[in-house]
Amino acid sequence: MPTTLKWLGHAAIEIKTGGKIVLVDPYFTGNSMAAIRPEQAQADYILVTHGHHDHVGDGVSIAKRTGATVIANPEIAGWFARQGLKTQSIEMDTSLELPFGNLKRTEAAHNSNLPDGSDGGTASGFILTTQEGKKIYLAGDTGLFDSMKAIGEEGIDFAALPIGGYYTIDPDEALRAVKTIHPKVVLPIHYNSNDKIKQDPQKWAARVQAETATKVVVLKPGESVEI
Ligand code: NI
Ligand code: MN
Repeated sequence: MPTTLKWLGHAAIEIKTGGKIVLVDPYFTGNSMAAIRPEQAQADYILVTHGHHDHVGDGVSIAKRTGATVIANPEIAGWFARQGLKTQSIEMDTSLELPFGNLKRTEAAHNSNLPDGSDGGTASGFILTTQEGKKIYLAGDTGLFDSMKAIGEEGIDFAALPIGGYYTIDPDEALRAVKTIHPKVVLPIHYNSNDKIKQDPQKWAARVQAETATKVVVLKPGESVEI
């Protein structure tokens, strides 16, 4: 079964792989780009990159309804666990063997306070290695950081990178990230969902494709790509 990745708007992504549904940063309520309503979300696992409201999103209600396991850093996993939800915590720069593949937690240059003000630990990115051996890098919200080079050395097949700026890397910095990581394919995310992060993804795609060997996939919320 091929792996499919669907962009659900902002940083929300659904990955179907290894017979499981992995939902990333499930922010739908209040997300002007949301492709679905929270009650339509499906999940066996929910990955949360950091504590901000636009990433924790509807994670609590979706985990409750679906019985999904929430995977996040120890502070965020603990916050979900205290609400009676199934969780799996993951330490920085370590990997877990999971029923859908291998999941590694990577650095992200960002903060991580939870919506209620509690400590959300350190922000994360993830590298998901599918059972077919494809490596998907989910950067989360981030600035540029030195260990992006090491992430690139893993051989990334597909990367989801923010381009919105203001909260994260902007189009110029995201282009530099592509030049550091050199993924085979990149998907721009975390733009146009509010006025501070207005960007033209097609213009960015043209620059990336002129200056790098990486293919850019620009999706509309709700559209999928096979990996
Ligand atoms: Ni954030
Ligand atoms: Mn964000």
